[in-house]
Amino acid sequence: MGPLVLSADFPDYQLLDSGRGRKLERFGDVILIRPEPKAWWRPATGDEQWGRAQAAFQDNGKWKFLRKKLDPSWKVAVCGNTLEVRLTDMSKHVGLFPEQEPHWSWLQERLQGRKEPRVLNLFGYTGAASLAAARVGAKVTHVDASKPAIAWGKHNQQLSGLQDATVRWLLDDAFKFVAREIRRGNRYEAILLDPPSFGRGPKGEVWKVEEHVVDFLDHLRKLLSDEAACLILTMYNLEASSIMLHNLVQDMLPAGEVSSGELALLPKYGQHRMPLSLFCRWQPA
Ligand SMILES: C[S@@+](CC[C@H](N)C(=O)[O-])C[C@H]1O[C@@H](n2cnc3c(N)ncnc32)[C@H](O)[C@@H]1O
Repeated sequence: MGPLVLSADFPDYQLLDSGRGRKLERFGDVILIRPEPKAWWRPATGDEQWGRAQAAFQDNGKWKFLRKKLDPSWKVAVCGNTLEVRLTDMSKHVGLFPEQEPHWSWLQERLQGRKEPRVLNLFGYTGAASLAAARVGAKVTHVDASKPAIAWGKHNQQLSGLQDATVRWLLDDAFKFVAREIRRGNRYEAILLDPPSFGRGPKGEVWKVEEHVVDFLDHLRKLLSDEAACLILTMYNLEASSIMLHNLVQDMLPAGEVSSGELALLPKYGQHRMPLSLFCRWQPA
């Protein structure tokens, strides 16, 4: 099957336009400008649209408020949950990678009707995927090496009214956690991983995607239960291609249905699809 292009579709987010290394986006009612190195083209719109932005992330690593003072945190709804979006200095990321919504919806579909499926979300960031799974009754293990990301995820769990859901928030190195989990004999019906191309665990462990991903998928294969529903791999590495991910997943996982492609946002104005992430999905045959 050729590469697929999947696009986020939920009311609280819209890519409005992109170009000249930036994207113009709406999160809830708030319009932001964020840097986007893949936006090589000219924007489809001019000041009339870009002038509506309330904040822009600048080269100095700070957010500039462009209109009236904006509350630096607010809420958006996605996949039945309520998540907090925040503007923090030194990060253009706002707590949500909206382009990943097709995976969260697909995960919910794959888990629907199962009794307490076990879900492992590695490099889980602020918990959008974990909470999408919890929303349909999954028992979730969320692993991330960042304390603030884990705290933000717990906050999102409260905001979503999922305090009674089973979500284990683990501050850990994903690779080490997976090795231990195999020894403990734990298994999962769904695994998600969104590895950064480079990262460090809580004790300074270095993660380089090109060095670790093959062994990592080998480990993850052992963690899939006999009743596995899916594995979802995303990658933001500019030098990679979805075909590379397809090859890896096909080699490393049991016989099944493998699809791969890109997550690309569709703009409100103009025709430029905004490619953001490569992905590969596996489900049993
Ligand atoms: C969501 S992923 C990658 C996000 C996006 N794909 C990108 O590259 O910008 C980022 C998350 O991985 C976490 N992370 C990085 N290295 C890790 C490691 N070795 N073990 C667990 N989590 C890690 C970070 O704390 C962060 O929350």
